[in-house]
Amino acid sequence: MFFRWLKRFLPRGLYGRAMLILLAPVVAVQLVVSVVFLQRHFDRVTEQMTRSVAIPLGYLLDEIAAAPDPGAAAARGGTLGAALGFTVTLPGDPVAEARLIYDLSGRSVVRTLHEVLPAVGGIDLAGDTGLVRLAAATPHGPAEITFRRARVSASNPHQLLVIMVLAGFLLTVVAYLFLRNQLTPIARLGEAASAYGRGRIVPYRLRGATEVRAAGRAFLDMRARLEQARAQRTLLLSGVSHDLRTPLTRLKLGLSLMDDDEDVRAMARDVADMEQMVDAFLDYARGEWTGAADPTVPADLARRVAGNAGRVGREVDLAVAPGAEAPVPMRARAVERAVENLVQNALRHGTRVRLAVAPQGGGVAFTVEDDGPGIPADRREEALAPFTRLDPARNHDRGGGAGLGLAIASEVARSHGGSLTLGDSALGGLRAELTLAGLSAG
Ligand SMILES: Nc1ncnc2c1ncn2[C@@H]1O[C@H](COP(=O)(O)OP(=O)(O)OP(=O)(O)O)[C@@H](O)[C@H]1O
Ligand SMILES: [Mg+2]
Repeated sequence: MFFRWLKRFLPRGLYGRAMLILLAPVVAVQLVVSVVFLQRHFDRVTEQMTRSVAIPLGYLLDEIAAAPDPGAAAARGGTLGAALGFTVTLPGDPVAEARLIYDLSGRSVVRTLHEVLPAVGGIDLAGDTGLVRLAAATPHGPAEITFRRARVSASNPHQLLVIMVLAGFLLTVVAYLFLRNQLTPIARLGEAASAYGRGRIVPYRLRGATEVRAAGRAFLDMRARLEQARAQRTLLLSGVSHDLRTPLTRLKLGLSLMDDDEDVRAMARDVADMEQMVDAFLDYARGEWTGAADPTVPADLARRVAGNAGRVGREVDLAVAPGAEAPVPMRARAVERAVENLVQNALRHGTRVRLAVAPQGGGVAFTVEDDGPGIPADRREEALAPFTRLDPARNHDRGGGAGLGLAIASEVARSHGGSLTLGDSALGGLRAELTLAGLSAG
């Protein structure tokens, strides 16, 4: 409970936490040493010094008391006081007790003087901080005695504290510099991992402490294995697709030689569907979403996609935001393919289709909407996975494909540092938003 509350005030970043771990003991040691030092020095040392001053002071007061008359007492006090380092005025003014609030050692001076010499009355440490002025009762009236403060207090007692704080500060700076070298490799590892998540392989060199190196090595192993798996999948997929093409072509040829009746036409349609699917597999396997990015005008790309739909006699409402005329670095072929997939889905499931393109952040967003049945919220994740077709029966008469369209679009978005999100459209059907972060050209 308490720790959770405390957590809110603790730094979140690794740097902040490391600094806290570093600073907390340094500050604690300084505090402890300061308190102990103050106690010892101001109390004990001051007390000892005051006791040694109280001896000649007591002797002086005794001598004054022993004088036969006030005149002799004043004379004796004057000469003896001068010899012992005291200025004596007899009779003197009354002295009020006074001490500055931060004069910590003064407390000990006052306490000790009162304790050792009962004749001492008021003690003034505040009037002139370089002097101690006190009143003492004598048989010849009150005497006023002054001596240097340095005789009862150590000089420059704060020096140790100042040196300690300075040294602590210096050591902290040095420790911070060393620490930064330890933390940078962790940050690098994070960058490499998140870049890979966005489909980019950045060079990563093992650096830093053993544990960080171990984590880095694990990451590199994982990345290599994922890459290997991807290469294998690609190989398999393209191998199978490629090998299927030849018998498909033969089938097509055979069908074209047969009599032109209803059954044969149906079979020819199935073969054409299969051919299309095989082509889709091949495209997906080739993974054309990697490669160089070139500056491309998003509005032109959207116009091309809408034009393609127009050529097969389907209307697409196009909404181009003014900012979409500025070029954005992207892999144009892959992006066009992704948008095309979204538009084709919309055309297949709806009658009205809207394609909007607008700048977003440093990149661009393509939004495709339709008035079809849409996809229920709990099945959207599933629809994005490769080779999944929701409700295959429904799709089939609408010419559904391999179930790769959304997977490819999502992969393209991810490789551009963006994402594909499915939602509800105001038109009544699905709303698919493809966002791309601006890639650096090259
Ligand atoms: N606009 C849409 N409206 C309703 N359902 C959709 C829409 N777009 C996609 N879906 C559903 O999501 C599933 C997956 O779509 P995806 O584009 O990945 O595959 P596909 O269209 O079946 O095949 P392919 O695109 O490879 O030819 C589709 O089978 C369909 O059920
Ligand atoms: Mg599709």
